[in-house]
Amino acid sequence: MFTTRFTETFGIEHPIVQGGMQWVGRAELVAAVANAGALGHITALTQPTPEDLVKEIERCRELTDKPFGVNLTILPAITPPPYMEYAQAIVDSGVKYVETAGNNPTEFLEIFKPAGIKTIHKATTVRHALKAQQIGVDAVSIDGFDCAGHPGEDDVTNLILIPRAADQLDIPIIASGGISDARGMVAALALGADAINMGTRFMATAESPIHDRVKDHLVQADERMTDHIFRSFRNTARVAKNSVSQEVIRIEKEGGQFEDVRELVSGARGRTVYETGDTDAGIWSAGLSQALIEDVPTCQELVDRMITEAEEIINDRLAGLLNTPVAG
Ligand SMILES: Cc1cc2nc3c(=O)[nH]c(=O)nc-3n(C[C@H](O)[C@H](O)[C@H](O)COP(=O)(O)O)c2cc1C
Repeated sequence: MFTTRFTETFGIEHPIVQGGMQWVGRAELVAAVANAGALGHITALTQPTPEDLVKEIERCRELTDKPFGVNLTILPAITPPPYMEYAQAIVDSGVKYVETAGNNPTEFLEIFKPAGIKTIHKATTVRHALKAQQIGVDAVSIDGFDCAGHPGEDDVTNLILIPRAADQLDIPIIASGGISDARGMVAALALGADAINMGTRFMATAESPIHDRVKDHLVQADERMTDHIFRSFRNTARVAKNSVSQEVIRIEKEGGQFEDVRELVSGARGRTVYETGDTDAGIWSAGLSQALIEDVPTCQELVDRMITEAEEIINDRLAGLLNTPVAG
């Protein structure tokens, strides 16, 4: 068992978080993560309306009596979703944990905090993490260069970002990106994190509501099978390498604009991947952490294994290094 500032402040058994995942963060996965003693997040915008989010939260409550959260990803859009209505639906549903991402969450904190909701804000730079602390979030989740989804534009890995953040922040830090097993978890704790966040690893679990072929793909894939798209738009996203991501990169290299790739990168096509198992149907997120995924366990097996192995690494391997007599 690990006791960290995260487990203490958030009242969650293990220092493990399942971050928001578009099309993947649904009730059955989030409830399984919660039942395993970790903190899962329903992804608000996977639900077409705030009313559907309320129903998804109710569905999750039928599957677990443990706490869980909701991810609210706030991205600039020509026609933005009704973010404040989603936020109000979270408050009205009595959920006590929210993960915000994408943009400054100040206006949402104004309704979350009075409702007693604990907030985690995702940041990709120390600067943004400090800003999040200043506006009053309870923890920051720091996404390093390895992560699936949006790593920012600075290309700094967690080996640097986490200790830099730990030196400067007072609130709990969650290391996110590139972690699939106990080795990554222990390393993150050693760097100064209070918990870890995983996306890709939780996609390849028994309860993850995506096609088995996508899970098998993650088991087979190595660290060279992701792409960065949208670099030229300064909105980089790490995604699974496939024919569509390669085509997007080709168009970007030729000076193409977002309009030129809009159809290729549509959310509807990405969703088709998860529903049909055709991994070339569209753009879908995956991190470098896929290289370390060897099986498709239940969330309970995954979390139990990570905690047990993390304890073994610390007690046996690392403590053993200290006891090794100096040669000569
Ligand atoms: C399929 C998928 C969809 C994701 N969608 C979102 C999202 O909608 N909002 C968000 O904040 N993060 C999203 N992420 C990022 C994850 O929450 C997490 O930060 C990231 O996966 C960590 O890196 P890892 O995959 O190496 O564990 C997504 C990740 C994946 C794999």
